[in-house]
Amino acid sequence: MSLKLVLAISLLGGTAPAALSAREPARQIARSVAAAPWRNTRLPAAERARALVSAMTRAEKLRYVHGLFPPMTKERHADMIPSAGYVPGVPRLGIPTLRESDASLGVANQVEQRKGDTATALPASLATAASFDPAIAFAGGAMIGAEARAKTFNVLLAGGVNLTRDAWNGRNFEYLGEDPLLAGLMAAESIRGVQTNNIVSTVKHFALNSQETGRTILDARIDEKALRESDLLAFKIAIDGGKPGSVMCAYNKIGGDWACENRFLLTDVLRSEWRYPGFVMSDWGAVHTTEKAALAGLDQESGQELDKAIYFGGPLADAVTSGRVPARRLDEMVERILTGVISSGLYDHPTPTAMQPIDFAAHAEVAQRAAEAGIVLLKNERNVLPFAKTAKRIVLIGGHADVGVLSGGGSSQVRSVGGVPIEIPLKDGAAASFARITYHSSAPLRAIRAAAPNADVRFVDGSDPIAAAAAARDADVAIIFATHWQTEAQDSSVSLPDGQDALISAVAKANPKSVVVLETGGPVLMPWAADVAGIVQAWYPGQRGGEAIARVVFGDVDASGRLPISFPRTIEQLPRPKPVLPAGTTSLSDAASNAGSGDAVAPPYPVPYGEGANVGYRWYAARGDRPLFPFGYGLSYTRFRFGDIRFIGGARPGASVTVTNTGTRPGVAVPQLYATGPDGTPLRLAAFRRVTLAPGETTRISLAADPRVLARWAAGQGWAVAAGRYHLAIATDATREVASDDVTVAGVSLATH
Ligand code: BGC
Repeated sequence: MSLKLVLAISLLGGTAPAALSAREPARQIARSVAAAPWRNTRLPAAERARALVSAMTRAEKLRYVHGLFPPMTKERHADMIPSAGYVPGVPRLGIPTLRESDASLGVANQVEQRKGDTATALPASLATAASFDPAIAFAGGAMIGAEARAKTFNVLLAGGVNLTRDAWNGRNFEYLGEDPLLAGLMAAESIRGVQTNNIVSTVKHFALNSQETGRTILDARIDEKALRESDLLAFKIAIDGGKPGSVMCAYNKIGGDWACENRFLLTDVLRSEWRYPGFVMSDWGAVHTTEKAALAGLDQESGQELDKAIYFGGPLADAVTSGRVPARRLDEMVERILTGVISSGLYDHPTPTAMQPIDFAAHAEVAQRAAEAGIVLLKNERNVLPFAKTAKRIVLIGGHADVGVLSGGGSSQVRSVGGVPIEIPLKDGAAASFARITYHSSAPLRAIRAAAPNADVRFVDGSDPIAAAAAARDADVAIIFATHWQTEAQDSSVSLPDGQDALISAVAKANPKSVVVLETGGPVLMPWAADVAGIVQAWYPGQRGGEAIARVVFGDVDASGRLPISFPRTIEQLPRPKPVLPAGTTSLSDAASNAGSGDAVAPPYPVPYGEGANVGYRWYAARGDRPLFPFGYGLSYTRFRFGDIRFIGGARPGASVTVTNTGTRPGVAVPQLYATGPDGTPLRLAAFRRVTLAPGETTRISLAADPRVLARWAAGQGWAVAAGRYHLAIATDATREVASDDVTVAGVSLATH
């Protein structure tokens, strides 16, 4: 093939369209590029999108700005399956049909979409965040993206980055913790991973969808500066690094306006300041108006059957015809969608139309690595862990550890490879229509038997604390599996349910060397913490959770996770001790029955976020309080020395530190840099690094404070790092400094984008 021809084909979009034969003259190809400039891969995505829009009819444009909810739509399309969303494309222009799937922890399939459909389930996003390892987040995203593409999906509803403001939020397990830098960087990598498959990822839910109970009616109230320095900062960092093709706006109101028709969020911040080029899609059932939403910056209505009307269908056509929504705005909406489609690679690399083979074995390894890297060892008295493989009698108690591990509920639910050993429908509550208590078939019992083949490993179900205590009394090792199911659409308490606290206390009394493994969506209260020898936070550990837990408790890998969310000692320590019912509702069922029924004239239902930007560890710091286990905390099976620590100020403040593994096992250290600025507000995580070291190994690392964390926002002035004295600390968690110093930092203004 001549060089010219290769070049011309690359201008056409990477692969040679079927119509082109190698013998076709290059001149003809150049002519077709000129006629179809959107195929020119050298042009910026936005320019190609504009060219495409100019070739579309009004009807085609109007069709692309609202999406079906396949389980409910009456429309029939031969290639539609009951996934989250479907938007028919424009084949004559190569505009793809958008085939959308939820994807927080894997390609979601809470209803069987195709016969025998399974997918690989990662651990909870909080587990991924606990790895403090962007490479783990990237690998997880890349895996999900590959599976999605092979399953013919091309838009993934992924990238959940709402800060975990409340320990009881039902959806914390789908998010990346309480810190904007950690959550933002991990979301960025996960999104980048997804999009390496030439498909679109969202980042969601923009913004302040901080609680599930009443999420479709509540009006989040927060000070603008605080919002910008907390949740919006997490989104900004995720967008900067991940470049998601789409942003999903949230259900709730913010400051009086629904998130999906919030001009401040969608236009002033996202478009004008951040210069975000992709499209805003709504959450499912989050649109309430036509004109207001379109003019505020919403580009696509998703899950239209869940809204009261198809606002971006007939009503938008009328509004454009009458000029209430300018035709130019409709063009812009489609341009933005196509910019996301082109910049993610989807336009030039269409997804297959038939299912492709998936390397489930390789993907299971990705899930297991993530689970192992995210398990956090919270307590290890007298080095009860790791267990010796020579232990003779091991008893596992509760948590259905004989058959599997728990997963979280809602739209992110993955029915994983290996099957569903337990599935319990809900009787009531806001999540009852679509969430079920579901386990992955990764039994800790099986994995622990494999890890300790010479031991007598027994299981007791934990329903009878007396029987459980009796079994534990004679065992060398007693492990209690405590579970706390949480789900999208409703919040829960932070106490272990079903008498598990009493069970743990009874077992701990019988065997003081008992270890608790927690399978929870986030923090739980631990009234028994002082009585047990070991506590292992396994989160929802995903489809290889049993194996990951076994490898950690037997020390095949280090216990290497660090908490991305603070664990309270008591609920009184929290900014809000329990789910806040939006003011104006009187009961949980009231809030549930209002779900989805909000409209433009709904009452305001305010929920104040008085802690502002002091989320999580910053809340404790502001009050001089200490949680049970702080953000950033986690034990290792080895020891580390942090030496020769030097702090620098100036234009690139930060620290360097020599980390040495002084123990006898390989292990993982996670040095963290915290900064406290001259404004006197509580410390903020400014940098971190996960380091794996062999026994005796040493490495020197530098941690540069991220300017986006040092900067403060001021009305009328934007973002600036104030010149002055900053307290910098190298620490092992948000409360434990190893060394610190005050340095002088040079002031600098940051561009808003
Ligand atoms: C959730 C979104 C999800 C969408 C589609 C909504 O209920 O909030 O996260 O992507 O449903 O399933």
